Amino acid sequence: MKFFIDTADIAEIRDLADTGLIDGVTTNPSLVAKTGRNFLETIAEICSIVPGPVSAEVAATDFQTMLAEGRHLAKIATNVTVKVPLTPAGLKTCRVLRSEGTMVNVTLCFSAAQALLAAKAGASFISPFVGRLDDIGQTGMDLIADIVAMYRQYPSIETEVLVASIRSPLHVVAAAKLGAHVGTFPGSVLRQMYGHPLTDKGLATFVSDWAKTGQSIL
Ligand code: G3P
Repeated sequence: MKFFIDTADIAEIRDLADTGLIDGVTTNPSLVAKTGRNFLETIAEICSIVPGPVSAEVAATDFQTMLAEGRHLAKIATNVTVKVPLTPAGLKTCRVLRSEGTMVNVTLCFSAAQALLAAKAGASFISPFVGRLDDIGQTGMDLIADIVAMYRQYPSIETEVLVASIRSPLHVVAAAKLGAHVGTFPGSVLRQMYGHPLTDKGLATFVSDWAKTGQSIL
């Protein structure tokens, strides 16, 4: 499973890229607004730090402007993935950008039917939002199971399931068990994934026992 980081915070991205565990980055208008920085410059900088796909979302909602924005974003770097909303205009934009060789991430997916449309439009990634479904009392991970099962029936579908709106390591593990291709989550979730009290306890014991040997490896 690929790990993408869901942030537009450059310092955070540099820090996490250093772990060697990050395969890409996703951003959205809300995450960009949080940084207070210039959007195009931020995307260019992220693309120079992370070689994998970097999602940059269009702002328009009509086809013509969305397409123009998508083409503009795609020129920033070869690893830019243009993010479009799951609307008729978004999917039309997706189809054109894909025919031009640009990677496209279709976002704001909340149903299996929507995911089927995105695959038909040739999306590189479909982003179902699990956390936001959980928030309204629906089991977000059921949607991932449906999409993965549906796409598996058609080997010609190349769209990768990018599980978004992940809120905890439990979401990451559940998505991996279902065979989702990618999970995108904030750095806080990645840091939580390292932790286990028995790891800390075991390491403390090994360190103190090693000290008792009086030896040094180097
Ligand atoms: O970028 C899309 C998605 O990951 C947003 O997550 O936490 O705002 O629902 P969240």
